[in-house]
Amino acid sequence: MTANVVNGHESGVLNVFYRSFPYPWPPRQLVALDDPAFYTRMIAQDVGDYGHTRLAPDASIWVAGCGTNQALITALRFPGATVLGTDASERSLEMCAANAAQLGVTNLELRHEGITQAEHRERFDYVLCTGVIHHNPDPPACLRRLTAAMRPDAVLELMVYNTFHRQEIVRFQQALTVLGYDDVESLQDRLSLARRLSESVPPGGQVGRRLEQYEYMGDEGWADSWMSPLEHDYTVEQFWAMAEECGLTVEAPTVNAFDQAGESYLWEVPIRDPEVRERYEGLPDRERWQVSNLLLMDSSPMMWFYAGHAARGRLTAAEHDEAFLDTVFTPTSARRRRWVLDEQGRYNEVPNTSAFPNALPPARVRPILAAVDGKRTMREVFADFDPALVRTARVELATSLFPFLTSSLP
Ligand SMILES: C[S@@+](CC[C@H](N)C(=O)[O-])C[C@H]1O[C@@H](n2cnc3c(N)ncnc32)[C@H](O)[C@@H]1O
Repeated sequence: MTANVVNGHESGVLNVFYRSFPYPWPPRQLVALDDPAFYTRMIAQDVGDYGHTRLAPDASIWVAGCGTNQALITALRFPGATVLGTDASERSLEMCAANAAQLGVTNLELRHEGITQAEHRERFDYVLCTGVIHHNPDPPACLRRLTAAMRPDAVLELMVYNTFHRQEIVRFQQALTVLGYDDVESLQDRLSLARRLSESVPPGGQVGRRLEQYEYMGDEGWADSWMSPLEHDYTVEQFWAMAEECGLTVEAPTVNAFDQAGESYLWEVPIRDPEVRERYEGLPDRERWQVSNLLLMDSSPMMWFYAGHAARGRLTAAEHDEAFLDTVFTPTSARRRRWVLDEQGRYNEVPNTSAFPNALPPARVRPILAAVDGKRTMREVFADFDPALVRTARVELATSLFPFLTSSLP
């Protein structure tokens, strides 16, 4: 792939597509916690660092391909950090800048720039890139830029399409191509063609069932999924191989809000047969998660992982469990500011702050949360619980998406 083709894709195809369909749509509310280290600690815990040394509150963060709001959400989430948001889409950045100005956010810089044009060298402690590189002709070319931008201990949060989440959508796109979609000039006419085709797909088949899940989605989200101008998708094995090819090692799954909503965030499959379970659990993470990917297919989690420089090595999931068990935890507690979207598209601050976390963890781990006392290690706490729950408990109690426990270490 020549540099010009890649560059042309960023300044041409992507800029034009996301001008018509800026992604994502505005969130109903934006939030910020009063504790600037809350989420740097949680990200550290996500990757098994219960000493909270991996990411400092004043971290340098790059949100690469930030779309309309991810850079703003990140700046609010990490108020002590400096955040750079870049995107190929000028319109998406304008929308982000308008909301950031309204909220008076000052730790955010937005820049119109393609990832393949970015020249950062060991500059960032945390790089976020979700739903981005798979829309490019040469995803590894983008990923190598991200690797180069990472400091030696940096954390990368990377999401690309899971092959098994895209099967029906790719078939639909192939059908559109045969129907002459590529010859239709304007994106609005393409949307109209695609929407009309979608309405004619019989509901009983795989494509029809998948379309039903998107029935009430606005044009931006619908177009991003069903009309994406170019896409690549990955199994765990392919994801891991690409990461390695780009100087990275996959660290841990990122539990994310989409999988949380679908209750499909665990990469471990409960295998009932003892002999098969022994085989499965004896596999290295890469192979085990690939087996999970193959068995769960469309109900496997999103292809969303933390990664680090290959030279750092990685904690296996089993080592991560041990680190969790060796840690003393205390329940988290913070106050949350909220800005709610009004009908004019403006965010208005809610007068009072509220307690955070504002939800309970899944029922199966609530008794474990109740038993945490800030004195005993999790191993001691687990004397009263089923050891088979350890991995589930660390995901459902002590991660960014389930931020109920913080390590008592500094
Ligand atoms: C599906 S949106 C995801 C936005 C955001 N990351 C999120 O998760 O909400 C994809 C965004 O990535 C941007 N993008 C894709 N490839 C890019 C590249 N090579 N350089 C810069 N931006 C890119 C697009 O312009 C678009 O705004």
